[in-house]
Amino acid sequence: MDPIYERTRAVTVRPAHPGDAESIRAIRNHAIEHSTALWTQTPQSPTEGAAWLATHLERGSAFVADVDGEVAGFAVYGPWRELDGYRHTVEDSVYVREGRHGLGIGFALLASLITAARDAGHHVVIAGIEAENTSSIRLHERFGFHHVGTVPEVGTKFGRWLDLTIMRLPLT
Ligand SMILES: CC(C)(COP(=O)(O)OP(=O)(O)OC[C@H]1O[C@@H](n2cnc3c(N)ncnc32)[C@H](O)[C@@H]1OP(=O)(O)O)[C@@H](O)C(=O)NCCC(=O)NCCS
Repeated sequence: MDPIYERTRAVTVRPAHPGDAESIRAIRNHAIEHSTALWTQTPQSPTEGAAWLATHLERGSAFVADVDGEVAGFAVYGPWRELDGYRHTVEDSVYVREGRHGLGIGFALLASLITAARDAGHHVVIAGIEAENTSSIRLHERFGFHHVGTVPEVGTKFGRWLDLTIMRLPLT
């Protein structure tokens, strides 16, 4: 049996709904406060979290991982860039609750997200990952994302420059 399958069998990935907003916000705010995964130090308020999720719910691009009845992680995709010429390219985000990392939850979420993006007719998925985030880079490699390049010092947080690694997965 694929070891990933063994690790993920207790995970159910389902489309998100408005009632997930606070769980998702807690996971996002933890990453904002403690990591360089999200390049901001401004946490989301409940109103902002609900509005952010509502945008994704409208286009069906938000998913949560349910483990033992708890939201253990989420994944979303959205436009990579705003101009309409980029409309067939989306960017993904995957976040797993602290204490649940390394259990296959991110894998299950990204698998569902890629299927949904492909079913929606998108052409390419992009991941923009802080260059030292080895777990996210490994997760994306596992699905065949290729390393396009790393853009040095395009972000800052916690008093240091951050490099952005771009990864790409063609869907069609
Ligand atoms: C990155 C993240 C989503 C990965 O999800 P996860 O559930 O922890 O990862 P999984 O258990 O599904 O593992 C997927 C792959 O990544 C690898 N991986 C997971 N954690 C790792 C780590 N700390 N170091 C190296 N590889 C790691 C796994 O070994 C697995 O690869 P394998 O099949 O070759 O063994 C999760 O760690 C997380 O939420 N991190 C904080 C937020 C974040 O960085 N999000 C991504 C922003 S771009």
